[in-house]
Amino acid sequence: MYQEKKFSIPALEGISQKSVDEHLSLYAGYVKNFNAIGDKLVEYAQDSEKHAHALSELMRRKSFEFDGMRLHELYFSQFEGGAKALNPDSVFGKALQAAYHEYFLPYFTSIGNMRGPGWAMLYYDPVQKEFQAGFAGEQHQGHFVTLPVILALDVWEHAYLLDYGATGKAKYIDAFFKNLNWSVLEARFDTIAQQ
Ligand SMILES: [Fe+2]
Repeated sequence: MYQEKKFSIPALEGISQKSVDEHLSLYAGYVKNFNAIGDKLVEYAQDSEKHAHALSELMRRKSFEFDGMRLHELYFSQFEGGAKALNPDSVFGKALQAAYHEYFLPYFTSIGNMRGPGWAMLYYDPVQKEFQAGFAGEQHQGHFVTLPVILALDVWEHAYLLDYGATGKAKYIDAFFKNLNWSVLEARFDTIAQQ
């Protein structure tokens, strides 16, 4: 059984406590649903013919719930420790600069501002030694398989509706970067790059 993780999130600038609290409740739902699906799959597999439709539907939902769980864990942990700027002299800072020059933030922000619910993602390929930025639709479509995650930005409406309204995604993304602890990303990169 997966356990709901607790996060030490300081007061955020531009993202209200109420929004964070509701968002954490949604995250808890993913953990609960993922565990519940596992139980149901075992139960239905006892008579797979009778439960064929339910089994196939649940199997399709399984990665949706898992990715929702893990992505929110990556997302919330990026606020822990409070806002901290990128250290340009860190291994990650130098690698990001070499790959994107000055264009990382506008590039990544443009991915976040794409239409539709999903996640703007930055992965790192430790084999090719390249970053890959992308957009995961909902949370389970379009991931770069095998690549570990450096940065996960939730751009579902639930992340910003309360504070900025349905058209406020761009303002929310600005607020996200104001609160981001880049040292969390530096640590992720160090772990991945050493593999
Ligand atoms: Fe979310």
